[in-house]
Amino acid sequence: MSWKTLDDMDLAGKTVLTRVDINVPVQDGRVTDDTRITRILPTIRDILAKGGKPVLIAHFDRPKGKVVPDMSLKVTLPALEAALGQRVRFAAEDFAAAIAATEPGEVLLLENIRFFPGEEKNDAAFAAELAALGDIYCNDAFSAAHRAHASTEAVAHLLPACAGRLMEAELRALEAALGNPARPVVAVVGGAKVSTKLDLLSNLIDKVDSLVIGGGMANTFLAAQGIGVGKSLCEHDLADTARAIMAKAEGAGCEIILPGDVVVADRFAAGADHETVAAGAVPEGGMILDAGPETVARIVAAFEAARTLIWNGPLGAFEIAPFDAATVAAARAAADLTEAGRLVSVAGGGDTVSALNHAGAADRFTYVSTAGGAFLEWMEGKTLPGVAALERAG
Ligand code: 3PG
Ligand code: MG
Repeated sequence: MSWKTLDDMDLAGKTVLTRVDINVPVQDGRVTDDTRITRILPTIRDILAKGGKPVLIAHFDRPKGKVVPDMSLKVTLPALEAALGQRVRFAAEDFAAAIAATEPGEVLLLENIRFFPGEEKNDAAFAAELAALGDIYCNDAFSAAHRAHASTEAVAHLLPACAGRLMEAELRALEAALGNPARPVVAVVGGAKVSTKLDLLSNLIDKVDSLVIGGGMANTFLAAQGIGVGKSLCEHDLADTARAIMAKAEGAGCEIILPGDVVVADRFAAGADHETVAAGAVPEGGMILDAGPETVARIVAAFEAARTLIWNGPLGAFEIAPFDAATVAAARAAADLTEAGRLVSVAGGGDTVSALNHAGAADRFTYVSTAGGAFLEWMEGKTLPGVAALERAG
């Protein structure tokens, strides 16, 4: 890891173009989850403390290079000000004038950078316009680092560049989980579809000692072994792929843990009639909605034997009770082992954070990433352009 951090930069009197990800959920004009906002506070505060002027650059939603008033970043301002405990200036246009008007100690947020067509094109001229606005570039948007956009990639080559505190924390946690982890390493990969996680599974097989497959994805693997899965969510057309993944795992010495018992209902609804059966005994009209207790015990045993856990995706239909049981039990066991100092646990991606929050386990994991797509691409072993640009700059 060869990027610079805020500690390496002299920020006094400097305008610091700070790429953040405050692409937060909004409902009825209000931010409903400010996690991504609170995670960038250390960076903003450190820049201020070192005498720099933080100019926040961010995107919101996908306006595709046009001004879409409903996608203005202004909607995040109250939440940002509340979290920071101070007023934040906002520049809808004429960024240079707004930056000049920003006094030392103040923070400025620029309008949705995706309103500009050059942003997503990673356009060199647009990046040069951005670079001309500041003295230093700080990237604190790990969760947007899988995008090679002007404000995440090209601009990093044009100014002295460093990682912000959140970027640093994300990269260090990910390095501890997969780069150079304490072994054995166990991975949990859940979620609905195998088709979206093929690259991820094949990368993990080479890197981890055991791999728990859960959620709808597991059904595809069960079916590929000739096990009847009834009406369950299942990608039958991926049977060959699933068998190839299992063969690859065997060759690599990676143990795959599939459900041995499952919770089956006749329909996908909260409180639906359900029973726990062996994985080989799913009734024809049954739908697998969760892993059973024996499977959970096996997963927990794998956690107990491991030193490092990396987790992406729920084990069952955790949004509806009681099909959250396996996810909740496994997440709590991982959190307990982490608190006991026996496990380094790192989680991220899409539904994972809400599943762990639901289990009351997120705060007790070693690290929970704020990233969705970037976390997945990183688990796939891909180079993230936003990170690579910092490494070259550093
Ligand atoms: C995210 O929400 O995952 C990031 O902000 C990236 O957003 P995008 O998927 O629209 O590029
Ligand atoms: Mg996304």
